[in-house]
Amino acid sequence: MPNILITGASGFVGGAVVEHILRQPAMDNVQLLLLVRADDKAAGLGRIINNLKKFELSEKQLSLITEDAILVGDLAEPENFIDDPRLDSITHVINCAAIASFGNNPVLWKVNVDGSLIFAKRMAQVKSLQRFVHVGTAMASMPDKDSVFYEDMPDNSHNEDLVQYTASKRAIENLIRQECPDMPFVVARPSIIVGHTQFGCRPSSSIFWVFLMAIKLKKFTCTFDANIDVIPVDYCAMVLVNLCLSDDIQHNFYHISSGEEMCTPFHEIDTFVAKAGNTKKIVDEYKQMSYQDFTGIRKQFKDILGPCNDKIILRAIKLYGGFAELNVKFDNQRLMDMGMPKPAPFRSYIDKCVTSTRGQSISELMMVDFK
Ligand SMILES: NC(=O)c1ccc[n+]([C@@H]2O[C@H](COP(=O)([O-])OP(=O)(O)OC[C@H]3O[C@@H](n4cnc5c(N)ncnc54)[C@H](OP(=O)(O)O)[C@@H]3O)[C@@H](O)[C@H]2O)c1
Repeated sequence: MPNILITGASGFVGGAVVEHILRQPAMDNVQLLLLVRADDKAAGLGRIINNLKKFELSEKQLSLITEDAILVGDLAEPENFIDDPRLDSITHVINCAAIASFGNNPVLWKVNVDGSLIFAKRMAQVKSLQRFVHVGTAMASMPDKDSVFYEDMPDNSHNEDLVQYTASKRAIENLIRQECPDMPFVVARPSIIVGHTQFGCRPSSSIFWVFLMAIKLKKFTCTFDANIDVIPVDYCAMVLVNLCLSDDIQHNFYHISSGEEMCTPFHEIDTFVAKAGNTKKIVDEYKQMSYQDFTGIRKQFKDILGPCNDKIILRAIKLYGGFAELNVKFDNQRLMDMGMPKPAPFRSYIDKCVTSTRGQSISELMMVDFK
């Protein structure tokens, strides 16, 4: 019976991974251990259940997670949980936990690199371990502008990281490979995860607010035709579970992405947001604008976006605008070769994202990405 340790289950991706497993009919054949930050198991269970409720699981499905499945621990202080004997019988790991923020979190490196490495080294010693799936991020490759990034390409060294977060994500992958050479280690790098095909942004409004903000401003740093490689979180979770449990995988590195054909041009996001909200498309008014030019109109932000801190909005435009300008696509051939389905196109569930964020301001929606 697989005994799967999942980290980050109180978050967006880890929550979706647990959701995917709980919805499987053969769930009785899987044992879960969930790493969560909390004072004790009861509080940890409470945090996990609160998060899973956003995925609209039934009470029966939620009741399958009990305190026995909770491993209280913080990756900033891994020495406090790595001696738990339950780790010795783990067969699979899906490592979703990380500080996934573009903000300046002072413990970013401590958690995403130092603590994660100690955790990985501990798991490398577990005799029963069959696979350790590590969730990276496709942007860690520092792709060139207007490019397609293929899975057999080395990370670019001639570009600079736009944020420390991507640097930390690349560093931990390399360190685990170096220091745990015999561990069955698989890296899965998702592209940009936005919403859920069934529940829209209810599980998380992460990044969706960037599109809403650009549409409200009628301006952003990218062209109106720029391609955005978006995938839904439930697709990402399904792939992660498959990469974790599949008997036969050919590679130790995968993109989880929409691939060359399925990227969403920004103008299409505008069209479908307008359709869902019964509002006017901005196609005739849209203007590509540099970050520098945005600084000149910062005083208008409040009038357009509602109550907000113009400094924070400017910072968001700088950080997310840098990624949007890249117009990069991430090839997903390896998943296609495995027989994985393609992700649902963003346009097919944008309406659910619009509905589930209705009535919330940009300031409220963006909080989730500035932890
Ligand atoms: N969202 C995207 O678009 C995207 C794209 C590519 C890759 N990824 C990757 O996907 C993974 C999950 O991201 P996400 O979007 O789900 O982020 P998220 O919603 O912020 O979730 C992050 C998870 O990591 C946990 N965590 C953070 N610091 C921790 C610590 N010190 N000790 C233990 N757990 C800790 C969080 O726990 P708390 O609840 O206690 O904070 C939470 O459960 C990350 O590795 C990220 O790099 C995300």
